Amino acid sequence: MSDPLPEYPKDLEARQTTKSGVELFLRPIRSGDEPNYKDFLQSLSDHSVYLKFFRSIQPTDDFVEKQVDVDYVHRMTILAFEGGGAEKKILGMGRYILSEEGRAEVYFAVRDDHQNLGIGRELLSYLIKVARKKGLKGFTAQVMVDNRRMLHLFRSLEGTEFKINRRMDAGVFYLDLKFL
Ligand SMILES: CC(C)(COP(=O)(O)OP(=O)(O)OC[C@H]1O[C@@H](n2cnc3c(N)ncnc32)[C@H](O)[C@@H]1OP(=O)(O)O)[C@@H](O)C(=O)NCCC(=O)NCCS
Repeated sequence: MSDPLPEYPKDLEARQTTKSGVELFLRPIRSGDEPNYKDFLQSLSDHSVYLKFFRSIQPTDDFVEKQVDVDYVHRMTILAFEGGGAEKKILGMGRYILSEEGRAEVYFAVRDDHQNLGIGRELLSYLIKVARKKGLKGFTAQVMVDNRRMLHLFRSLEGTEFKINRRMDAGVFYLDLKFL
């Protein structure tokens, strides 16, 4: 018998406006998002894909289905839609995957033509809020040393949201972010 479909957590929907005035509708990914999510993945430049996945990817239907298949406990993805009201296109995503008791690996991506407008910051803050609500103790992240934007975002919350331990190996920072 297959597992029952996880219940969509409607309480995790929110509206936010970034510091540069971009209105966002934030919500967990759900079944039915496949075409929109595929379009989002296809919109990412090779450089952004590499910074996020550390390799090139083909957003095949199978790949997209696996990404949309979350259970809201071990795998959580928050999408940032354009506009504060009706859902339009996906501008960004933040995802965490539980790795060990109470800790989760995080990943982010924002459409290339919408980067540096504050969307990544909103997604990071929101994912922290969701993770805290779910009782997580912190995040881990792997960030390339030249990914200054992502490193800046994590660093900017050091001392307020989390304590950071970092290790560097072969051009990658391994960050251990413990919630305060
Ligand atoms: C990394 C990423 C998710 C950040 O999202 P974003 O929407 O572009 O980021 P924001 O606009 O919210 O914030 C960027 C911050 O970096 C700062 N910044 C921009 N360029 C910078 C640079 N070269 N050096 C240092 N800081 C920089 C901005 O000033 C801003 O900080 P502030 O909020 O204190 O002003 C996005 O750029 C992206 O998708 N990159 C490709 C994929 C990726 O790298 N994923 C991360 C893997 S974990």
